[in-house]
Amino acid sequence: MIDIKNYLHEKQLLVVQALDKLMLSPEGDFADHVTCMRYSLFVGGKRVRPILCLAAGTCISGKNDIEMRLLPVACALECIHTYSLIHDDLPAMDNDDLRRGHPTCHKKYGEAEAILAGDGLLTFAFDLLSNPVHARGLSDSARLAIVHTIARAAGSLGMVGGQALDMDGEGKKLSFDQLKTIHRNKTGALITASVLSGALGAGADADQLRAMQVFGDNIGLAFQIVDDLLDVISTTEELGKTAGSDARHNKATYPAFFGVDKTRKMAEQAVQTSLDALSIFSDRADPLRALAQYIVDRTK
Ligand code: IPE
Ligand code: IPE
Ligand code: MG
Ligand code: MG
Ligand code: MG
Repeated sequence: MIDIKNYLHEKQLLVVQALDKLMLSPEGDFADHVTCMRYSLFVGGKRVRPILCLAAGTCISGKNDIEMRLLPVACALECIHTYSLIHDDLPAMDNDDLRRGHPTCHKKYGEAEAILAGDGLLTFAFDLLSNPVHARGLSDSARLAIVHTIARAAGSLGMVGGQALDMDGEGKKLSFDQLKTIHRNKTGALITASVLSGALGAGADADQLRAMQVFGDNIGLAFQIVDDLLDVISTTEELGKTAGSDARHNKATYPAFFGVDKTRKMAEQAVQTSLDALSIFSDRADPLRALAQYIVDRTK
């Protein structure tokens, strides 16, 4: 059995060190802009997406250098995620003042700087993914497949599209199908892409990729269901972001739809489906199994 607390701590350290090394330096003409990006990147965060990428790679490849080879991809995923948080918090979107236990990017640096920090992080992710300096043993075809998978998931047919539906749905009575579509896209898509990109980098075959897709889709949905739940049942102090934000904005959420107890059951069900999808793998999938369980058990 994996001790998830130790596992997360160890991998968070690995990801943060790599991010610090690979991220632009706050010097020269763009020092202020880079400082702003680095603020949001390093102020905190669970690093779930990069860790999922590493764990998926480890599941497919028994080689112990797979994590090192995947680190630039893992860091790119965290850059995209952090950009999505900066923009999600802007006054025009969820208008939140607290993120990762600290003032949101626009509160600290202003709106224009925050928009540009987001733009910079998104673009830098594709710099990292395509830069031959970071190729580190991933074949060109694997890298191309990873770039396409991540671009698709982050864009209008994934995260950005989901955020557009989320904003448009504020204050409206949505159907359950519409709610699920929002959650699968705004959050699920990048989580699935994190799992798939790790698997692609490790040379997964078609059956393995299909299993990873089902796994990712279900933990991705569960992740946002639990995020909705925590917004209702947890505190601002514990979350490091303002609790009750969804109700304030009349967002379509699982607890608003089903209540707290049924919502928790639905998250657990999605995680069970994700675990079933991993049955084709050996105990090398144990970190993925532990991460899936962590996604429903987490308190922040
Ligand atoms: C929050 O993501 C936004 C969602 C997509 C639900 P996380 O809960 O992963 O936030 P950090 O990275 O740990 O701050
Ligand atoms: C955010 O969903 C999803 C993305 C940032 C893509 P939420 O708006 O629920 O995330 P939090 O609760 O602010 O972290
Ligand atoms: Mg939002
Ligand atoms: Mg938000
Ligand atoms: Mg939320």
